[in-house]
Amino acid sequence: MSVIERMLGRADGSGDDGLVIAPMRKRDLKHGILETESHAYPKPWSPSVFQSEIDQVKTGSRLYLTARRVAKGPVVGHAGLWFTHDEAHVTNVAVHPDARRSGVATALMLALADEAIRRDCVAWTLEVRVSSEGAQELYRNFGFVPAGVRKNYYENVEDAIVMWCHDIQDAEYAERLERLGATR
Ligand SMILES: CC(C)(COP(=O)(O)OP(=O)(O)OC[C@H]1O[C@@H](n2cnc3c(N)ncnc32)[C@H](O)[C@@H]1OP(=O)(O)O)[C@@H](O)C(=O)NCCC(=O)NCCS
Repeated sequence: MSVIERMLGRADGSGDDGLVIAPMRKRDLKHGILETESHAYPKPWSPSVFQSEIDQVKTGSRLYLTARRVAKGPVVGHAGLWFTHDEAHVTNVAVHPDARRSGVATALMLALADEAIRRDCVAWTLEVRVSSEGAQELYRNFGFVPAGVRKNYYENVEDAIVMWCHDIQDAEYAERLERLGATR
């Protein structure tokens, strides 16, 4: 059992609050993922983008996870990661509006971090909309710091802030994750 699994409670990914983190399956798309996407982004991912990403999980280059309030309940949040060499890139983090501010994204990010560390990544990165201040706060909690701006990255009109978090193999980072997990 990994550090994060221990921290989250049980080996199946369910925490003391009953939140269940599990690998994304194609049949989850119609059970919450596409709806959450439509609320989360001006240009949500299509089913075919998700299907292609899920197909690539078996190559080891991707990880996609879902969060449920109860096993077999609707998916209330999802998140994804690409692996390149010794770095990981967060591709998507979204939580249904009805489930926000209750630690769902934190639980998903903890699980992504756990896997990035397990796969020997030394850093992780992401892009976030300038207007997504809540998401930026979430990422700052995980130790991400702004490292640059991609002009007009979203829909050719909105800038992306590029954020990086380094040294994720260090003991200090494990301590940060434990603190975040303790608040779950
Ligand atoms: C950003 C998002 C994923 C956060 O999901 P969430 O499950 O509500 O996040 P959590 O409950 O785990 O929040 C953890 C912490 O992040 C910060 N945070 C999250 N949302 C916030 C908001 N709207 N405003 C300010 N801080 C916020 C807070 O520090 C929060 O801790 P607190 O609730 O104890 O204050 C969700 O709002 C969402 O899906 N937004 C639309 C999609 C998006 O912007 N995704 C990121 C793309 S890069």
